Amino acid sequence: AEGQLALTPAMGWNSWNVFGRAVSDSLARAAADAMVAKGLADHGWTYVNLDDGWERSAREQDPLYEGPVRAPDGTMLTNKKFPDMKALGDYIHAKGLKFGIYSGPGPTTCQRLEASWQHELQDFRTFAGWGVDYLKYDWCGYSSVLAPGETNQQLAVLKRPYQVGRTALNQVPRDIVYSLCQYGWGNVWEWGAEPGIEGNSWRTTGDITDTWESMAGIGFRQVGNSKYASPGHWNDPDMLVIGKVGWGPRLRDSRLTPNEQYVHITLWTLLASPLLLGNDLTQMDDFELNLVTNDEVLAVHQDALGKAADRVARDGELEVWARPLADGSLAVGLFNRDEMDMPVTVKWSDLGITGKRVARDLWRQKDLGTFDGQLSRVVPRHGTVFVKLSAR
Ligand code: DGJ
Repeated sequence: AEGQLALTPAMGWNSWNVFGRAVSDSLARAAADAMVAKGLADHGWTYVNLDDGWERSAREQDPLYEGPVRAPDGTMLTNKKFPDMKALGDYIHAKGLKFGIYSGPGPTTCQRLEASWQHELQDFRTFAGWGVDYLKYDWCGYSSVLAPGETNQQLAVLKRPYQVGRTALNQVPRDIVYSLCQYGWGNVWEWGAEPGIEGNSWRTTGDITDTWESMAGIGFRQVGNSKYASPGHWNDPDMLVIGKVGWGPRLRDSRLTPNEQYVHITLWTLLASPLLLGNDLTQMDDFELNLVTNDEVLAVHQDALGKAADRVARDGELEVWARPLADGSLAVGLFNRDEMDMPVTVKWSDLGITGKRVARDLWRQKDLGTFDGQLSRVVPRHGTVFVKLSAR
């Protein structure tokens, strides 16, 4: 039932950052296969989410045009890359995974493909029939249906498509995670969880790309957002850009260095953001697999208390972020945004604690000893040290 979904932030994969419009049934199946075969599923990775690109276009010059976008009764049709969406859903479920899809409240998506305007309930029923467990609902296109006098600066207008979507979702007899995608206008995080919308997550930024400037700019800008996160309702600073990313022929290694990738996963873990891999899962090397299968790190991400981290201290390019955990301990990220290795110190006074703490390095899965009052570590440039501080 609504209200019991996404009690911890989602973990999975989304097609956009690696396949874009080229997403297909076979690429989605390969992602599901890899999620199991590479062992990701054993560490909690679950969702296989299609983004924009699975729909038909109504515009003849678009390669995804195939005639009418809907059947005579209004049922939304898939493009020929998806011959049988129900079979794809069954395939994903048979692997013990969950199936996600993408639409929007406007007449078309950001890619100008068919979306759910005035077909919300019908489409969500269709999705439920395919076995969909997760819906990313992207504003794009909705601006075109505003009435005269309405603008996307008006709060009631901003909320409306997500209210309409929620009302429709509640009429569908299937649990579907509701992921709000909207950015640039208004602060969706301030109202995304309110009754009548009940988003399970909402974007807090524009699109990420695989550079330090983009990733760190987005991640460290999440200061002050922890108060909006709670079980079932998460801030979403966009998908992960580790591993092989970039569409089709432009497939490349993420331009993030290994240390920057540690920062990315550490920060998104602390922020209790959905962890949606955006890379080609069939081509993950040992480093990338290690990065996403560290159970001590993932346990922080999935912590049952469901509190997100916030920044507790900052000294120029050095930052400390802390997240309280269900067992009374604290997950603490020491971050170095500077261009050279630097010692970073976390003071107990910044954490609101006193007395001795055992520190465990979560990436290395190694105890660092007992500390009182503060802890200092040398942190590599564009890097992090991620520790858990426990009373014993
Ligand atoms: C904009 C979103 O922010 C992206 O994540 C992606 O879904 C694209 N739209 C798809 O067109």
